[in-house]
Amino acid sequence: MTSILRSAHSWVIWVGVAYIAFLASLAFEPVQSAFIYLHHVRIPLGVDFSRPESVGFAPGKVRPFNLTTGDGVRLGAWHVLPRDLYEEAVEKYGVPEEGPMPNEVFDAALKSPKHPTVVYNHGNAATRAAGNRVRVARHMSDMNANFVIYDYRGFADSSRMAPSEEGLLTDARRAFDYVYKDKGVPASRIAVMGQSLGTGVSAGMVARLAEEGIHPRALILVAPFSSVASLLETYKLGNYIPILSPLQRFPRLLEGLLRLLRTRFDTRSVIDSIRSPILILHAHNDPVIPLSHTRTLAEHLLGPLLSQHAESDQDEALKLARGKLVKETKAGGWGVVSRFERGEGKGEVVWAEALKGAHNEIGTSEYSVELIKSMVRPGEP
Ligand SMILES: *[C@@H]1O[C@H](CO)[C@@H](O)[C@H](O)[C@H]1NC(C)=O
Repeated sequence: MTSILRSAHSWVIWVGVAYIAFLASLAFEPVQSAFIYLHHVRIPLGVDFSRPESVGFAPGKVRPFNLTTGDGVRLGAWHVLPRDLYEEAVEKYGVPEEGPMPNEVFDAALKSPKHPTVVYNHGNAATRAAGNRVRVARHMSDMNANFVIYDYRGFADSSRMAPSEEGLLTDARRAFDYVYKDKGVPASRIAVMGQSLGTGVSAGMVARLAEEGIHPRALILVAPFSSVASLLETYKLGNYIPILSPLQRFPRLLEGLLRLLRTRFDTRSVIDSIRSPILILHAHNDPVIPLSHTRTLAEHLLGPLLSQHAESDQDEALKLARGKLVKETKAGGWGVVSRFERGEGKGEVVWAEALKGAHNEIGTSEYSVELIKSMVRPGEP
């Protein structure tokens, strides 16, 4: 009996020691990056990025290309044609036996005023060939939009190196500039969309664009977090193992550890400076990022308006002002969509709380796609 107790006791101690060692290792940037970016997870395996057909695209519909950033990093990328222009190209050139449609088809598609472009910043882990990302691409093509997706540094076929916050912001800007500068498409025809980690990248990049007076057509955040620090407090590895929650009883230690974070993606503190219309999509059953993060972002955007419109800062007055500003609609069994106008030349904010969709499929549920369409192709049925 005592020996069982003793071995149980030492087991607990070993788990404790391992946890403390793990926490200590988190202070080091390479360990943080490995956890946050998960770029070593190169699924699906064995993808030939020069043949997008192999992951389900129609022959010749996708142009693979490389981008080089200002700091000399190579990024692998795909441009997916709008569906109607692909069909036109098939009529004109036939289905290509090898490689993409002629270059002029892709360039004309970007330049076409009737065909907006969505630049996509994907989430952590895996590559642009992942099933949920390919499904987003198809939906965007089906709404007759161009879709540009690339892999960040350290991911997929892009330069092998350690990702970082500044690095990913640089990569996202390069992808945006490919459309905006290299191809001369006005910002008003480019929407920036990100999912999960990519929402931090998208918001950070669009906030920097705003500082330069460049305002994309829309910013679309799918399953966002308000900041990496606030996410890590409740983050569960593999949706199961809480990595920092045990520290919540030691707020000083938790704070100290979070201060050592090199990757911050503090969307909450930059989102207010963005002037583009903003759409946020989040599911109640998201196991990775709680819905509360979307509410934090929406409330943060709403805050200044509430205090402007409320007669006083009493709860009743704030509630009244909120009722006047925010239009809330129930969307059948899908969820609830809320919207408000920010005024001052800033766009509308729309945020949708879906009942289902989890973390990776919320961006491709049929009604999500409708909401995305209303941002990418505003004013069209
Ligand atoms: C991108 O660059 C890589 C490495 O140089 C090369 O193997 C690949 O063929 C390039 N892709 C395209 C589409 O040019």
